[in-house]
Amino acid sequence: MYAVVAEGLWRFFSDNPVLRGVSLAVEEGGVYGLIGPNGAGKTTMFRILATLLRPSRGTAKVFGKDVVREASDVRRMIAYLPEEAGVYKNLTGRGFLKMVSRVYGLGSSALEQGVTISGLGEDVDRRMGEYSKGMRRRILLAGCLMVKPRLAILDEPTAGLDVEHSVYVRKIISQYAEQGTTFIVSSHNMLEVDYLCDRIALIHRGSIIAEGKPRELTASHNVQNLEELFVKKMGEAP
Ligand SMILES: Nc1ncnc2c1ncn2[C@@H]1O[C@H](COP(=O)(O)OP(=O)(O)OP(=O)(O)O)[C@@H](O)[C@H]1O
Ligand SMILES: [Mg+2]
Repeated sequence: MYAVVAEGLWRFFSDNPVLRGVSLAVEEGGVYGLIGPNGAGKTTMFRILATLLRPSRGTAKVFGKDVVREASDVRRMIAYLPEEAGVYKNLTGRGFLKMVSRVYGLGSSALEQGVTISGLGEDVDRRMGEYSKGMRRRILLAGCLMVKPRLAILDEPTAGLDVEHSVYVRKIISQYAEQGTTFIVSSHNMLEVDYLCDRIALIHRGSIIAEGKPRELTASHNVQNLEELFVKKMGEAP
């Protein structure tokens, strides 16, 4: 079963083609990385998969459900961490997780799990308006994962986090992937991508220019690591 199948996806903003016929198949299980330079189309792709944006052409399916025609079925299976998500300033972290658990009809054990995932300790009872960037990211990630989505779409989950918090978030993602959640993530940190991702797609100007397992891609391109692969492919790209 594929978690995601995209076929010939185009997205225009005005006349500007931001996605140009992207086709992608993400197998269920594991962590799939979408990498590429600023403006390549990663967030646009994620927003389409999360049913927040319609493709101009082509189709995308999440576990067989069409993101346009069956959007509500898709929404029930996914969680989405946007690139720049705000928080409710007057809610505490725990209050936010409670709200999420109510919206999804979850019990108190899910709430406690959310608190644990956040790793915020006593800070979970502080107002989120007082949270640092890393704390905000962690509470939002906890909200995504506590609902046990079949697919978690995480747009730069560790962007701006310090080393310790990044390591923590990566560990949580790996743990949930082992328990069966499929992840599709973006990141500008190639070390992180190498550590986390079973497969990657490299997107450049709205087109996929490389796809596969990190090890196989670096070997076939005769480079040492993903950073070198990235630089090499960008140099070759039109
Ligand atoms: N709502 C919008 N209106 C107009 N143009 C948009 C809109 N959203 C995105 N774009 C354009 O689409 C292109 C791709 O943007 P996108 O946010 O998908 O890139 P990205 O790969 O996520 O980049 P980054 O690494 O900087 O997050 C950019 O040229 C951007 O200006
Ligand atoms: Mg982006």
